[in-house]
Amino acid sequence: MDDLDALLSSAPGQVAATDSLEGLDAVEAELVGRRSLVTERRRGLGQLDPAERPAVGARLNEVAATLQELVDGRRLMLEREAEDRLLVEDRVDITVPRRLVATGTSHLITQTIDEISDIFTAIGYQIADGPEAETAWHNFDALNTPWWHPSRLESDTMYLDYGDPEDEILLRTHTSTVQARTMESQPPPVHVIAPGRCYRTDTFDATHSPVFHQFEGLAVAEGITFQDLKGTLLYFAREYFGPDRTIRLIPHFFPFTEPSAEMHVSCFACDGSGCRVCSHSGWIELLGCGMVDPNVFEAIGYDPSQVTGFAFGGGIERVAMVRHGIDDIRHLWDNDLRVNEQFV
Ligand code: DAH
Repeated sequence: MDDLDALLSSAPGQVAATDSLEGLDAVEAELVGRRSLVTERRRGLGQLDPAERPAVGARLNEVAATLQELVDGRRLMLEREAEDRLLVEDRVDITVPRRLVATGTSHLITQTIDEISDIFTAIGYQIADGPEAETAWHNFDALNTPWWHPSRLESDTMYLDYGDPEDEILLRTHTSTVQARTMESQPPPVHVIAPGRCYRTDTFDATHSPVFHQFEGLAVAEGITFQDLKGTLLYFAREYFGPDRTIRLIPHFFPFTEPSAEMHVSCFACDGSGCRVCSHSGWIELLGCGMVDPNVFEAIGYDPSQVTGFAFGGGIERVAMVRHGIDDIRHLWDNDLRVNEQFV
């Protein structure tokens, strides 16, 4: 039994000195495996005197259990150490400053388009669209604008194909084209809001840009009146400029509406008493509007004895500049981040 005692006294040191799980497997095989001293002795039990066997067997079991316990204890420790090491090695340093990535925002024109679209979709309008390269028919004829109208001159409108009014192609001068396109493509009732880009041969200055944006509104159904137009525009003015606004409608002329008007909103800066924002008039001119001219219904194929409607159209840049106090339209096109970053 001497060698078993020797084993019991050397094993703890051997196990404790093992510093990897793989190493421990090898030590385990050596101590209690198939070729270990304990196993070998067990195999030899049969040759012992039967009287000695139980005591020797019990002693071997005891030794084997002690050795196995040593190994299992060390394994637990090594596994725990491995886990701790992983936690340390995998630690993320959350105090490291993040890399700053410049995030953009929508341009003020886009923001304004979105806001106006939201204001009208909230009361049941649908967003409508039309091409920027347009037929003269949709831009002028369908909208009751005769061939001799001055706005049709090549000096006012950018033509892609000019000469024969029958098949002239141009860059649309207003979003009113979407009135014609929408009514052409669907029966009444119609409630649409159409924001979009327009073109005119204007010189780029503080208040004009040859490329600009408008929003067009159109409502057509049985029994629509001028009251509906006024209520809708008042709703828009209050949503966009604030709940205290009032509006006034001043008679005007547009070929495609009759009667037509210019809508003014009471100045939000001075509440109507007169200031620089409203040129001391108390009112800010905002957009054109009116009741859809029966000639327009006839041109696109609606029956003017069945339906009535109203339309309105205004400049996106214009309403945004008024509200945000921007005094030069070129600021909206310069791509100067110092300007753009003010509207995030
Ligand atoms: N299209 C006009 C313009 O560009 C604006 C306008 C006026 C639109 C009256 C309308 C309207 O729908 O009814 O100046």
